[in-house]
Amino acid sequence: MTSFSTDWLSLRESADHRSRNPVLQEQVLRYLEKISNLKNGPIHIVDLGSGTGSNLRALAPLIHHNQNWTLIDYDPLLLTAAREKICIWADYITDKAHNKDHDNDVTRPVTLVKNNYEITVQFLQKDLASNLQSKLFESADLITAAAFFDLIALDWLVQFCSVLKTSIYTVLTYNGEETWLPSDPRDTEILEAFHHHQGSDKGFGNALGPLAFKTMEQLLKKEGFHVETGSSPWILNPNDASLIQELAAGTAKAVVETHLVSHEIAKQWGEQRSKSQHCEIGHDDLFAIYKKNSI
Ligand SMILES: C[S@@+](CC[C@H](N)C(=O)[O-])C[C@H]1O[C@@H](n2cnc3c(N)ncnc32)[C@H](O)[C@@H]1O
Repeated sequence: MTSFSTDWLSLRESADHRSRNPVLQEQVLRYLEKISNLKNGPIHIVDLGSGTGSNLRALAPLIHHNQNWTLIDYDPLLLTAAREKICIWADYITDKAHNKDHDNDVTRPVTLVKNNYEITVQFLQKDLASNLQSKLFESADLITAAAFFDLIALDWLVQFCSVLKTSIYTVLTYNGEETWLPSDPRDTEILEAFHHHQGSDKGFGNALGPLAFKTMEQLLKKEGFHVETGSSPWILNPNDASLIQELAAGTAKAVVETHLVSHEIAKQWGEQRSKSQHCEIGHDDLFAIYKKNSI
């Protein structure tokens, strides 16, 4: 199991939010607007690999309708942190979802109000690698995921796309493109080794890493989805110094694990890059509308 720390997810949250492709996001919002006009109840969104709920905090305030969210992650600590962060982020908690039987459950559902809309959030601890049933998604109006699909292996993705009967919006899938300035002669070697690491098993079998996005786009098109895409690079400047430092350190650590780069080179590169003034990390967003949904 690959684990992600709450500190890392918090550190990246503001860069993630500002990098989301705005044109695609607008299309998703228009789509949800049409859905909400057709149904009486709240819109239901299922977020895969939710971590601490960053994707909800980015998207939910833009939706002018009541919402039910189901956050799915296999890491109970991240789901606990998600509940805490969402409660702090809310304008207020209405506690409609309160159930005395679950008072001690740190991931019990919560109902809150944000921007005058009611949002109920459920937290589901599931290993998606071994729980790929369409049942998990069947009541959803939209599936979402942020920074998740590059962890996935081909077999899982093929199966996922074939059982998917709901529109899906994924953001911030790593696409392998990186620019660090000023350039460094070790960049190419480090990036190749990093891609190798991205392809290692993250719990689903060998991960697609930078190939995940294009593969997913093709598979969904083959399944008849109408697919739109847009880029969402992190563009990091001195204001993002802490994120740049963590990114440089994380990359240096990952490439050492591949044994393709010596410890010394990785260390030097990491130290140099932690002082980088500008860095761009390529990501892509995707919105795929399920064909049987005539909206
Ligand atoms: C890069 S983090 C992104 C988290 C969150 N979506 C965000 O944008 O901050 C990837 C997330 O996927 C979750 N994850 C990885 N493998 C998983 C699996 N097999 N089942 C469920 N969640 C998984 C991790 O626990 C982590 O929260």
